[in-house]
Amino acid sequence: MTLIPFKRLAQSNLIIGHRGASGYAPENTLASFNEAVKRQADMIELDIQLTADHHWVVIHDLNLKRTCGVSKKVRITPLSLIKTLDAGSWFSAVFSGERVLTLEELLAWAKNKINLNIEIKGKLPKRIGSIPTLLAKISKNQMTKNVILSSFNWKVLREIRHFHRTIPIGILVNREPHFLYLREALDLKAFSIHLPKHRMKKGLSSKIHDHKLKIFLYTVNRADEIKAYSALGADGFFSDYPGLIRYERPI
Ligand code: G3P
Ligand code: MG
Repeated sequence: MTLIPFKRLAQSNLIIGHRGASGYAPENTLASFNEAVKRQADMIELDIQLTADHHWVVIHDLNLKRTCGVSKKVRITPLSLIKTLDAGSWFSAVFSGERVLTLEELLAWAKNKINLNIEIKGKLPKRIGSIPTLLAKISKNQMTKNVILSSFNWKVLREIRHFHRTIPIGILVNREPHFLYLREALDLKAFSIHLPKHRMKKGLSSKIHDHKLKIFLYTVNRADEIKAYSALGADGFFSDYPGLIRYERPI
């Protein structure tokens, strides 16, 4: 199977599985990603950060406590220790034994299967080479046209653009004003702007679409919201329940 590069996706109402299908399975695990594919997500969103020994791993929180039961920051923990932890039991005993994935494992799984939005958590890595290493892993798996790289930390995005002129970038926005995130998106030649859903207002979509930027909203877990935001011009939705508008009832 060949995946359609993002830039050629004509479809609107893109459903992006948030941390996989994190409403159904423990976030950012293989179980969650498989569930998202089963529920026909168009794309999967996942979070990555660096371990103490500079491996990119797939996990949301900076601390391992909530999802792996050990109160220790990922950035001071070596991969070998992280790999011993159970990343599934916190969600349900059914998922005990799920492991934290490395980025390599994730890319090998996703290749030729599903497009990805890789969100980079944390500070700009101090170690020179961490961002080029990330880009090299994506490129080695021929997924450069099948990923969007995003971050709330725009310094990280600038670093990515510095090392790669064309890889799709999504600007993650929290409270920043419109003029600021739009300027950043244009400077970075971004593909998309990822907004909290409450920031989506009438009239906003044309101001963003005029610049050929897509609008993705987080986190949308009800079918009626998808309908309403879609009418306002949103192009895609991060959802813990991918498949929501395909064959599920509103929840
Ligand atoms: O990328 C959208 C969303 O995932 C951002 O927030 O905290 O879920 O990573 P968070
Ligand atoms: Mg995220």
